[in-house]
Amino acid sequence: MRESRFHVADQTHQAWWRSAAIYQVYLRSFADGNGDGVGDLAGLRSRLPYLAGLGIDAIWIVPWYPSPLADGGYDVADFRAIDPIFGTLAEAEKLIEEAHAAGIRVICDIVPNHCSDQHAWFQKALAAPSGSPERDLFWFRKGRGEHGELPPTDLQSIFGGPAWTRVADGEWYLHLFAPEQPDFNWDHPAVRAEFEDILRFWLDRGIDGIRIDSAAVLIKDPLVSDTYEDNDGIHEVYQSWRRIADTYSPSRALIGEVWLPDHEAFARYLRPDELHTAFNFAFLGAPWEADKLRYEIDMTLEVHAPVAAPATWVLSNHDVTREVTRFGREVTNFAFADKRRDVPSDLALGTRRARAAALLTMSLPGAYYLYQGEELGLEEVEDLDDALREDPMFHRSGGVDPGRDGCRVPLPWSGSTAPFGFSPSDATGTPWLPQPAHWAELSVAAQQGVQGSFLELYCEALRIRREDPALGDGPMRWLESEPHVLAFARDDSFANVTNLGTEAAVLPPHREVLLSSVPLNEDGTLPPDASAWIRLA
Ligand code: GLC
Repeated sequence: MRESRFHVADQTHQAWWRSAAIYQVYLRSFADGNGDGVGDLAGLRSRLPYLAGLGIDAIWIVPWYPSPLADGGYDVADFRAIDPIFGTLAEAEKLIEEAHAAGIRVICDIVPNHCSDQHAWFQKALAAPSGSPERDLFWFRKGRGEHGELPPTDLQSIFGGPAWTRVADGEWYLHLFAPEQPDFNWDHPAVRAEFEDILRFWLDRGIDGIRIDSAAVLIKDPLVSDTYEDNDGIHEVYQSWRRIADTYSPSRALIGEVWLPDHEAFARYLRPDELHTAFNFAFLGAPWEADKLRYEIDMTLEVHAPVAAPATWVLSNHDVTREVTRFGREVTNFAFADKRRDVPSDLALGTRRARAAALLTMSLPGAYYLYQGEELGLEEVEDLDDALREDPMFHRSGGVDPGRDGCRVPLPWSGSTAPFGFSPSDATGTPWLPQPAHWAELSVAAQQGVQGSFLELYCEALRIRREDPALGDGPMRWLESEPHVLAFARDDSFANVTNLGTEAAVLPPHREVLLSSVPLNEDGTLPPDASAWIRLA
């Protein structure tokens, strides 16, 4: 099973991940095949032609494992199976085969920092006594205070509230995220061996890449230090994973979710014997301002150069506010700590900027990620009933943080009323989160083939990105421009110009406009909040 089932003759495709356009599938909300209101593998398989038509190179599927869904599936109860709500392992294997046949690679999501509290190991640890080998696989500790009634430390969970939860016999266990997500003890050789085996399990099934959840927080000693990011020993873990990935031909791509503010620390994960790429959250978080974006682009390239790793560019994912909403706000950056409810957004402005941002992002050097629904111009759904919100970020913040449900609403595919083709017409269930009525206009069917639609802009941009050898991995150079304009060339011929100012911008001398996010002005200038791909003269 070690041979790749994906036949690519061209040697340059061996390093496909350096230039790929990767589509993130949030499985619960992508397409529902069996009519229960929850997206599944059958739905995804039926929509592979859509993805192939979109012109993406790979899909990244968020955790599909059995899970009580305390954190949308990032609480994994069994790393070697598929949750029955999504389908079966045999179906996952079929999906991989069919995706490959359609020219689409498949990336799955591994969550090494923690598991579900329903995972067999944690259940055994709960049943075992203090100091037992079963508890050693996690971080069980005695509490402080006279009767151990206080948590071992004051460490706070990333989702809010204490990072320790007490069990029946009085000990406490560590969870950097929700209490239903106990942290593994990565100092334990059995944990390391287990994950190496899990990697092989999926890679043997033809998986082309692994997205590594919360990749920088595995190593910790919570009693000694409150610092859990980027601790000593983390790189050995990924060096050993890389050795495993490299036993496959071509090497399977390792993609880290590494949120680290320190650029040099970030780059260390991308050394030639570690991860292939990591998500560029600095760019994702940047506001719609030319100087800030220029800074993040320069910094990204500077940071990646010494390790010879390709940059990645991403505008959104299942954890952050959709960019149509974000770019329509007064403050356009993204930061988890600042997420609040009832922040007004001008969606028309946000949509216009999101179109421009897409052309900017897709033409930068390296790999590109898009999150499902981004290609339809969907906004964050902000008026969900509180009773429907599932995200622990909402619940653990006492509702101060609206949480991440708003970017996870099921996709509209067709039709004028909900579920907009998300579920089959004879469905017995309704979508697990309700879709806004106006998504009828944003459905795939409503946009496909419609000139000027959001979807057509994405299709056309992805097509050009795929066909033009100047795009994807490779060099870029800034062109002279007004301060509020970002203009760069990818070779002697291709350039991108994005106008973030309030005045029209003059394009550099060009032979042709390949694509623009909105029509150019009659005098050929680029309007504000717009972007154009041009052939230089
Ligand atoms: C990552 C995931 C996020 C999840 C968290 C804990 O950040 O993207 O959705 O909640 O890890 O696993």
